Amino acid sequence: PALEAWLRKMPKVELHLHLEGSLEPELMFKLAQKNAIDLPFNNVEQVKQAYQFSQLQDFLDIYYQGANVLVTEQDFFDLTWAYLLQCKAQNVRHVEPFFDPQTHLARGINFATVINGIHAALLQGQQELGISSELIMCFLRHLSEQDAMATLALAEPYLDKIIGVGLDSSEMGHPPEKFSRVFAKARQLGLLTVAHAGEEGPASYIHTCLDDLQVSRVDHGVRASEDPDLMERLITSRMPLTVCPLSNTKLKVFSDMSQHNILQMLEQGVCVTVNSDDPAYFGGYMNENFFALANGLEMTADHAMMLAANAIEACFASGKRKSQLL
Ligand code: HPA
Ligand code: ZN
Repeated sequence: PALEAWLRKMPKVELHLHLEGSLEPELMFKLAQKNAIDLPFNNVEQVKQAYQFSQLQDFLDIYYQGANVLVTEQDFFDLTWAYLLQCKAQNVRHVEPFFDPQTHLARGINFATVINGIHAALLQGQQELGISSELIMCFLRHLSEQDAMATLALAEPYLDKIIGVGLDSSEMGHPPEKFSRVFAKARQLGLLTVAHAGEEGPASYIHTCLDDLQVSRVDHGVRASEDPDLMERLITSRMPLTVCPLSNTKLKVFSDMSQHNILQMLEQGVCVTVNSDDPAYFGGYMNENFFALANGLEMTADHAMMLAANAIEACFASGKRKSQLL
């Protein structure tokens, strides 16, 4: 409880957050009603009942369904703004959220609608809440290289609003090298790259993220601990891992928080960070993830400070902004 009070006040940076995964059931119902979208639930209680997953795909099916309620630019603004208000309440001072344009394009929503709504909220968050941000566009790895390439082309007029590209969705069977050419094109356009790897997929996928996609960070990456050579590589390069503790236990990457390897990796010198991933689905935002580590893993205030400092080191903010975050 004393540590929890201290963690609430600690300044934080979030580097692994899917905006579509911050859609709370209350807003989902409100938007479903406004946009006349059918939901397979009658009330918020039924929604929460449905949030029981035994692997990543169980979650993804329900997450893509939830995103169907997002239609207008205002909807994307409201989604993003609600997340930023949570950040403000939890003393999260810099964020680098992901969005999944392909989820929306497939439903006939324009790229402009999505990015303009998100961007307007991020700008207002900077101005009114003092939360700095950089936006990352993710490709859905279960879709084709060609679909990702077409999405990147749609983003070209908006490159001033995006700092980088990422890779999410079903990991198994969709290795990073499937998107080598897309990521090369993104880098040519001046974008940074990150990718989900080593969440459910093997450590070899983390190697190919580094070698083929030339990522600046690995999202999740927890299965790196199975490969000593990879661990050495991550430690010496200070390659950041954006770890999501509550996500990992909800999706059974670890059976229980007591089994999570984040503090072990921290103590070995890996640049691990704490993040919420999809807070509306996994039971909490940044503070709740830190609380879970304090309760399930005996995380100390010193650990928490190192984790928070790692996120500042790993973020894409300017040197000037980073020094303000310290
Ligand atoms: N893994 C893969 N895809 C995702 C995730 C995740 O944790 N969250 C949202 N899309
Ligand atoms: Zn994720």
